[in-house]
Amino acid sequence: MRKRLFSGIQPNGSIHLGNYLGAIRNWVNLQDEDDCLFCIVDLHAITIDRNPEVLRKEIRETAGILLACGIDPEKSTLFVQSNVCAHSEMTWIINCFTPFGWLNRMTQFKEKSKDHQKDVSVGLFDYPVLMASDILLYKTDLVAVGEDQKQHLEFTRNIAQRINSIYGDMFVIPEPLIPNNGARIMGLHDPTRKMSKSEAGKYHAINMLDPPEEIRYKIMRAQTDSDRRISFDRARSGIFNLITIYECLSGSTREEIEKSFNGMGYEEFKEELSVLISETLKPIQARYRKIMENPDDIDVILIDGADRASAMAGPVLFEFKDRIGLW
Ligand code: AMP
Ligand code: TRP
Repeated sequence: MRKRLFSGIQPNGSIHLGNYLGAIRNWVNLQDEDDCLFCIVDLHAITIDRNPEVLRKEIRETAGILLACGIDPEKSTLFVQSNVCAHSEMTWIINCFTPFGWLNRMTQFKEKSKDHQKDVSVGLFDYPVLMASDILLYKTDLVAVGEDQKQHLEFTRNIAQRINSIYGDMFVIPEPLIPNNGARIMGLHDPTRKMSKSEAGKYHAINMLDPPEEIRYKIMRAQTDSDRRISFDRARSGIFNLITIYECLSGSTREEIEKSFNGMGYEEFKEELSVLISETLKPIQARYRKIMENPDDIDVILIDGADRASAMAGPVLFEFKDRIGLW
């Protein structure tokens, strides 16, 4: 039987190679085997950034990139979170079942609140409950994410189990689907921090729309070390990150890669890696440009997706409210 798969992406900042390798690329491949929902999580985005023009633009651009990467609205449901009001309603109800201490343990909240010290909202603290609501509303079996979402997934499973222990089998307990390779791509200028949309620094991330010369510029400046061996050695985080990107994009095995770069210098390796990244992104960028010529078509896809998602989420929310005794 086909499984229900759900995942989400925030529409803030430029989508980068980490998002592609850790999440989007796998979503595209899973569309044929699973019943997929992909959600542009704008309600999550406003936990930090709140510029109306920018948000509206980035929601559409995010949809454009997902479509250009191969998310097919004929196969999957692609929608914007705030268009399906059940997500917000579910969040309130699940809040009332969430022990404060569980949220207090979330490491992503601690990191983000350090980065945005002047603006730590209750919404940012509550972020994992909104994510749990996204997932549980669709009786999701599988959640395809990068490694950074592991703790939020564990939280979702715990909350679903807690509610089920009170009301019987209300929710499906979702399983994480995290890729073996590419689940945690690190920043180029600082390979101790994960590649992320919010990280400052010009050479930190390869964005999906970067032209070849920019990709090359960033890769050539990526941090490495003085060892000069091109190998899969976790202790040398800079080169490990670069060679992992090469592995994800080339499809070659680790042995093949180490063999082919044996004796080669970092510069030559970086040149090859830049070309591989550019060649991978080129067709995606071309499709993106074409899609963005008709933004109205994107809106039609998103509205249709929201209708389909609402039709799935509505009965689950209704059932949950009924079990609790809400009118
Ligand atoms: P976000 O940009 O936080 O909305 O993340 C969207 C998806 O990309 C999630 O499934 C993340 O786990 C994944 N992701 C984000 N950053 C990385 C990264 N540096 N490496 C691998 N996956 C990532
Ligand atoms: N929190 C996720 C991230 O930052 C995005 C997200 C929101 C999500 N809701 C989700 C991912 C539900 C998977 C399932 O990457």
